[in-house]
Amino acid sequence: MKCKICKETAVVALRSHNAAFCAECYKDFFARQVERGIESQKLFTREEKILVALSGGKDSLALMLELARQGYNVTGLHIDLGIPGSSPAARGVVERFCARHGLKLMVKEMAAEGLAIPDVKERLRRPVCSACGKIKRHFFNKAALDGGFDALATGHNLDDEAARLFSNTLRWDTAYLSDQGPRLDGEDGFARKVKPLWRLTEFETANYAFLMGIEHHYAPCPYSPGASFTTLKGLLQRLEAAMPGRKLDFYQGFLKRGRPVFARREEEEGLELAPCESCGYPTSSGDLCGVCRIREALKEAQA
Ligand code: AMP
Ligand code: FES
Ligand code: ZN
Repeated sequence: MKCKICKETAVVALRSHNAAFCAECYKDFFARQVERGIESQKLFTREEKILVALSGGKDSLALMLELARQGYNVTGLHIDLGIPGSSPAARGVVERFCARHGLKLMVKEMAAEGLAIPDVKERLRRPVCSACGKIKRHFFNKAALDGGFDALATGHNLDDEAARLFSNTLRWDTAYLSDQGPRLDGEDGFARKVKPLWRLTEFETANYAFLMGIEHHYAPCPYSPGASFTTLKGLLQRLEAAMPGRKLDFYQGFLKRGRPVFARREEEEGLELAPCESCGYPTSSGDLCGVCRIREALKEAQA
C-alpha cells in the first residue's frame, strides 16, 4: 500500500478516511485533524493559556505534544491519586514526558488533600470510580481557575465522545445531551473545558503516540472493573467496520443538529447553581458540592 500523499510505502491505513499514510504524512494528517477540531469548534487560540490534564495515558500525552508542536501555550496538570502501584507509575511517565519535551507541569497530590483514593474507597462503601471522577474534575477546575488558565483540555477522543453520546441517547438524558461536546464554555466558577482530540479515534491517537515514541502508562486502575463504555464502544466499532466514517458522522451530526435543540430546551427549564457552603464552588446539588460531600462522608466514617 502506498501513502496517499507522497506515494512512499504506507504504515497506517484508515478506512474511515479512505486513505493510507507513511509515518511523516500520518503525523501531518493527525496535526490537521487536531487543528480542524480546534478551529471548527473555536476551542481556544494561540494567545490563550491552556492547562492540559495529563493522566499518563497515550491520549492526553499525544494531545499535549501536538498542541506544543502547534505553538499553543500549554501547561500540564497531573492529579496524583495516591493509588499504590498505579499512581507512582502514571506520575513517573508524565514527569519524564514533560522533562523530555521541556513542557511545564503541575502535579496535585490527593493525599495532601486528605483525598487519597484508597482512603476514599475504604470509607465511602460505594464504588469509588464516580467519587474519583468527581474529585478529578473538581481539581482540574480549581487548578485552571487558580492558575488563571483560559481553558482546561482533556485527552478524550472520538471513541470516548461517540460512546458517551450513544449512552446519553439511549437514556434520552436531555440534560447531558444539552451540553455534551468538545467545548463547554466557562461560567461563574467553572473553567472552559475542551476536548481537542474529538475528531480522532483511539486507534488514530495510538498510532500517533507510537510514531512519536511516546512512552505511556498501561497499568489499569485496580479499582475500575474496566474502561468505561466498553460495550457501547464495541457496538460502535462494529458499526464503523460495516460503515466506515459513521462514528464521526454520528458525533458531528449531533454537534450541528442535535445539541442546539437540547440546549434550547435546557435553557428554558434552567438549572440553579449556588455556591457550595463549604468551599464556595458552584453546585447544583444543594448546600455542599460533590467533593465537600465526599469530605463530609470521610469525616463521618472516621468519627
Ligand atoms: P479517563 O476518564 O481516565 O479516560 O481520562 C480522560 C481524560 O481525563 C484523560 O485523557 C486526561 O486528560 C484526564 N485525566 C484522567 N486522569 C487524570 C489524572 N490522574 N491526572 C490528570 N488528568 C487526568
Ligand atoms: Fe479513579 Fe480508578 S482512576 S477509581
Ligand atoms: Zn465544596
